[in-house]
Amino acid sequence: MIKLLSHLSHLEITTPDVEASVRFYTEQVGLRESGRENGVVYLRSWGDYYHYSLAISEGPEPSLASMAWRTTSAEALEEAARRVEAKGVDVVWSEQGFHHGRSFRFVGPWGHTMDLFWEVDKYAGEGDQASIFPDRPERRSRHAVAPRQLDHVTVAASDVRGFADWYSEVLGFRIMAHTVLDEAPVTVFTVITTNEKSHDLGIVLDGSSRPGRINHFAFWVDTREDLLQAADVLMENGTDIEYGPSIHGVGEQNFLYFRDPSTMRIEVNTGGYRNYVPDWEPRVWTPSTGSNSIYRNSVMPMSMTESFPPAPEPSATEEGVHPATREALLNPYARLGQG
Ligand SMILES: [Fe+2]
Repeated sequence: MIKLLSHLSHLEITTPDVEASVRFYTEQVGLRESGRENGVVYLRSWGDYYHYSLAISEGPEPSLASMAWRTTSAEALEEAARRVEAKGVDVVWSEQGFHHGRSFRFVGPWGHTMDLFWEVDKYAGEGDQASIFPDRPERRSRHAVAPRQLDHVTVAASDVRGFADWYSEVLGFRIMAHTVLDEAPVTVFTVITTNEKSHDLGIVLDGSSRPGRINHFAFWVDTREDLLQAADVLMENGTDIEYGPSIHGVGEQNFLYFRDPSTMRIEVNTGGYRNYVPDWEPRVWTPSTGSNSIYRNSVMPMSMTESFPPAPEPSATEEGVHPATREALLNPYARLGQG
């Protein structure tokens, strides 16, 4: 298969209060508004190469409206559509998006909406926003958190390996690692990627019957010092840290999780390995080997198992749930691996 996808380009999330979320992402996180159209507000990090990486629209609950990847070429876009359709999944084309060209949208088997496109407007800051350095789309932000760019999205699905296999087979994601419970052969987390990172798409186990949920999305900062300062300043400005700062074993990323006003979870991350091996064999972690916390000495808060939109928790009481999965969902402390 030719390489189809290059990288995660942007996400669209919903929130009941768009303006509250926009204020949060601009004032607390340090993103910058780069456009508004038809009720959608577009935000960018200073290092994002295109016009935006986060779109916020109104909805009754916090949710992932869509996740958008850029393909590697116009031909790859056509081939991706053919491959999705060959799996019996409908694709819907649109001729124009906000600062990108022709795209198609489909809803994957676990209910997640994905947009793929090739043509895009590159961002070039002007006036006060122009950088003195040729590589940068915009001058570095002076905001204390101010991530450089969007990094990854982690969704929830009822069959983590099934999800990873489908996206690998159809769109060419490399499967990098799984987290399996110590007690039973239940995969609770998998990371897949379109590039050298450990993941631009993560999947956590969803015990609920609600499709298309998201667990969190992540922005990148350049250094661990930036990440520690982000935690400090967020705390000082009234934003609680949900988990971290620490380092995941899976991917070896430094992480920091917090919530936006809609309760949606955001991560700021940095570090991690770069992996270029085309026939990489997925590695298997367990929580006891440090999948969550590389130091093996901290407990992941129960709240980290919440995905969005909310679903009845724990859903382990539903029929047909594997006993070990039920056990994990009912008592997930330090067990569920997730990054
Ligand atoms: Fe993450």
